[in-house]
This record gives sequence, C-alpha cells and structure tokens, in this order.
Amino acid sequence: MKIIKVDLGERGYSIHIGNSILSDKKIFNQYITSKQVLVVTNERVAPLYLKAIEKHLVNFDYEVFILPDGETYKSLDSLNQIITQLLERKFSRTCILIALGGGVVGDLTGFAASCYQRGVKFIQIPTTLLAQVDSSVGGKTAVNHPLGKNMIGAFHQPHAVFSDTSVLATLPDREFAAGLAEIIKYGLIRDEKFFSWLEENINPLIERDNQVLAYAIERSCINKAEVVAEDERETGYRAILNLGHTFGHAIETALSYKEWLHGEAVGCGMLMAADLSKRLGFFEQSQFDRIQLLLERAALPIKVHNDAEFNQIFENMKVDKKSRDGILHLVLLKNIGEAFVTSDYSEKALKETIKNFLC
Ligand code: NAD
Ligand code: GLY
Repeated sequence: MKIIKVDLGERGYSIHIGNSILSDKKIFNQYITSKQVLVVTNERVAPLYLKAIEKHLVNFDYEVFILPDGETYKSLDSLNQIITQLLERKFSRTCILIALGGGVVGDLTGFAASCYQRGVKFIQIPTTLLAQVDSSVGGKTAVNHPLGKNMIGAFHQPHAVFSDTSVLATLPDREFAAGLAEIIKYGLIRDEKFFSWLEENINPLIERDNQVLAYAIERSCINKAEVVAEDERETGYRAILNLGHTFGHAIETALSYKEWLHGEAVGCGMLMAADLSKRLGFFEQSQFDRIQLLLERAALPIKVHNDAEFNQIFENMKVDKKSRDGILHLVLLKNIGEAFVTSDYSEKALKETIKNFLC
C-alpha cells in the first residue's frame, strides 16, 4: 500500500492507495474514531461494495444513506435528506461520515460533513478513477444549483482517503476514460515527465494493468496533494487544477449535463485551453498535437456535437467560479507541464476557439 500525505497541518491527512484496502480491517479501525457512522453511497455502488464496508462496522452504531445514481442527486434536496437522517438518528458532533462512491457521492457527503453541526469528520472511499485521482483529495465539496454546477459548497478536508484500485474493475470503460482525463491534466499542468510516461503507458493503463494504474493514481495524488498543500483555498496556484474546467463546465451546462461525463468535458476543455494558448502565441502546434493524440488514445471526445450552441457555451463561461469581479480568468498552457492563469486574452480568440470545437 502507498501512503501519500496531504500536508495541511492540523487539517492534514493520508491518502491510502492499494488493491485490497476494503478488506483491511486495521485501516478502518485506525480511522473510524466514532461509534456513530453514516455511510453515504448510491444505488449502483451499494450492491457492489457496501457489504465490504459493513463488515468493518458491526460494532458501530451505523446507518446507511443510499442515493439514486446520477449528478442530478448532487443537490440541496439530497443534502437535506442526509441532514434529516443524521438528526433523526441523533448523531452528535463526533459522528463520522463515509463517502462510498464516485465524485457525486464524495462531493455531497463532504458538503454534508462540512455543514452538519458546523462540521464533522468524513472519510472518502472513492470508487471511480476520477474520484481516486481528483475529487476525493483536496477538500472541495459542493452540490449543484439549477443555474450552475458546484455553486453551493465549502472547503472541508477529509479525515482520510482510502483508494482501493480493485473497485475500478467494475467501472464502465467510459467512466474509466473520464478519469484518465484528470490524470492527463496533472501531466499538462505541472509534470511533463508524467505526461511522457502517460504517452508510453496509455495502452496498459486503458487495459487497467494493476501496476500501471496504481502508479498513475499515485502520481496524480502526489501532484494534487502538493498543489493543495501550497494553496488550500485556491487563492492563486490551486487554480491550475482547473485546466479545461471552465470550458468543460460550460459545455456540460449547455448539454444540460445529459450528454457528457464531467471528465469527458474536462478532456475536451483541456484541448480547448491548449488551442486558445496556441492562438495567443504561448503554445506550439506540436505540443497541441501530442495532447490531442493522447486524448484520442484514451478514448476521450475532442469535439462538441449534438445540441450545444456557441452562445450558450460562451455565456456559460461567464458564470464560472474562476470569474473574479466579473472578469473570467482562464487556465492556459505555456508548455506541456506548465500551466498559468490569465485574464489577458482577446474575446475574439476565445470565440474562435469555441467555434473550432463545435461540429
Ligand atoms: P459519479 O460519481 O457520477 O460516478 C460515475 C458513475 O460510476 C456513476 O454511475 C456511479 O454510480 C458509478 N460508479 C461509481 N463507482 C463505480 C464502480 N466502482 N463500479 C461501477 N460503477 C461505479 O461521477 P465521477 O466521475 O466519479 O465524479 C463526477 C463528480 O465529481 C462531478 O459532480 C464533479 O463536479 C465532481 N468533481 C469534484 C472535484 C472536487 O475537487 N471535489 C473534482 C472533480 C470532479
Ligand atoms: N478539481 C479542482 C480542485 O480540486 O481544485
């Protein structure tokens, strides 16, 4: 098992990565410090992995909350239901929540933990690749508002993260590819060596070779942990983790969250950021081609079709959280392995980039 520390002083924690963590009683005993435990999961994950968790909870006063599956349920309504269950069961401030699922379950559970009685502990047990390399680490928690994704949330760091790679065996290929987009992101924003490693290892990675997968998750978590340790609340540097997200969120919203997975939108968004960087003269065509090829090999979409309209995408970008005082800041690329944040781009170039990706 690999252990990566997120160095945040008293809010610091460990990410445990291995292929048999769910059956490791010791680790549960070490981290579950309260008798009152609420496991939040969903209808898809529960039949697969809930029993493995429940085995460790026989001596606890534990409850389970099972959400329907889907991004729609990352909502205030679901949050309210969780809080109601906690109150009905008289859970106190020392209780602990466990998020067993992908990013939807993790973000919602983390937000519930941040609000319940002004903040209780929670453990992330991410079960998608995207959640293992990104959403379970760093303490961003949120629910969606009908007018914008992740618009209601809080920073609340988990007590620990348990990433068991064996659960990825049941993940559908499309979901797996969506996680690869976030892995590729780390190479692009700050780890050129890792990007080159991904180019060499993308085939075994797609085949879910255990060792290759474990290394990709570890390297991603190390990158994320370092960024978060430097800028926990995204006052500056952490914004590079949003490469592709401003474009991606705008596309997801334009498609009413129905067509693309978050990671797919981020993948295409990263290529759009590279395209804009190229138009502005920061980035080489040959580097753009390397990104496009890697995304294609990872089976990620690189063009937006269906019903997304130019105006919708352009307008959606303006309500992005990366907007400061109404000015949209974008994460762009100087090189593979070097991202930066800027508001210094022409609207004309941005519009050309968006148009270039519609078909
Ligand atoms: P998800 O949670 O919807 O999971 C994807 C699908 O896989 C779901 O149908 C889920 O039920 C299923 N699933 C989960 N684990 C499985 C398994 N082991 N086997 C089979 N099926 C499984 O989506 P996601 O991609 O994990 O996360 C996306 C969410 O994460 C978005 O809401 C996004 O905003 C959020 N996010 C948050 C952060 C952050 O820093 N907090 C970062 C990135 C993304
Ligand atoms: N996923 C972006 C962040 O955690 O900051």
